[in-house]
Amino acid sequence: MLLSDFIREGRKALLALYPAPEAGNLMTRLFSARLGLPPHTPLVHPETEIPPASLDLLQDDLDRLLHGEPLQYVLGAATFCGRDFKVSPAVLIPRPETELLVERALAAIDGAGPGCRVLDLCTGSGCIAWTLMLERPGLCVTAVDLSGEALAEARSQFPDRPAPHFVRADVLTQPRIDGGPFHLIVSNPPYVLERQKAQMRRNVLDYEPEMALFVPDGNPLLFYRAIAGMALTQLLPGGTGIVEINDALGPDTADIFIQAGFSDVSLLPDLSGRDRFIQFQRPF
Ligand SMILES: C[S@@+](CC[C@H](N)C(=O)[O-])C[C@H]1O[C@@H](n2cnc3c(N)ncnc32)[C@H](O)[C@@H]1O
Repeated sequence: MLLSDFIREGRKALLALYPAPEAGNLMTRLFSARLGLPPHTPLVHPETEIPPASLDLLQDDLDRLLHGEPLQYVLGAATFCGRDFKVSPAVLIPRPETELLVERALAAIDGAGPGCRVLDLCTGSGCIAWTLMLERPGLCVTAVDLSGEALAEARSQFPDRPAPHFVRADVLTQPRIDGGPFHLIVSNPPYVLERQKAQMRRNVLDYEPEMALFVPDGNPLLFYRAIAGMALTQLLPGGTGIVEINDALGPDTADIFIQAGFSDVSLLPDLSGRDRFIQFQRPF
């Protein structure tokens, strides 16, 4: 089968689920990842045939996409900060905005020597913890999640590299994590309100882990209270905290850290200008 025919037919079928540019983009990313070909191949070499040995796999992949499964789960990989992370339905697919949290975290520990200690709460795929370690060898990173399946995925990411120390714990009930006190605490905890489900796409609701996403409408900031409590005792004086937040709850979330007594509490925007992060410091 000609690659261009497979792409055209796949894109047409995906229009039932996705806007045209996204349907085209999904097909391009699919063939490029599976066949190891550059994205422009069908334009430059329209005569390209799909190798017969790859056809069944590509057809299965397309069927999964047509059932609404996210491409990253189909491929088993998602790009984060320029690296491929393994992903399965046990972990949240890393989001581009979380890369900004990593940028801020790296800036916060700029110049820190080896032995600088970092705590990543609610680590999921481990994308934040691993990126920090890979960017700054010598950091001591502890990464926590409640899900054993997520931790197994996180532990397996880069088998040849020194790994973060992964710990299974409930951030909401366990006030102390070994490995501290920490110079930096980062977290992208669950923060989507149950009532926001109505605005979310089916491929997120049907495939991504519920416990990674949702918090009760009646107590939406429970993770931030727990993180503030933990940071009061486990962040070094002068240490920094950075958390990703629900953009609908910016000032209320910031207030938790202000009331807890942290200094320099700032609400920070993502690339579209929405409140997406809070950075704070433990006073000396
Ligand atoms: C929004 S995901 C973040 C994953 C990853 N850090 C990222 O940025 O892509 C939240 C994570 O919190 C974990 N989680 C949920 N409840 C938890 C709890 N009570 N204690 C620790 N981790 C929890 C979930 O398993 C999930 O992996």
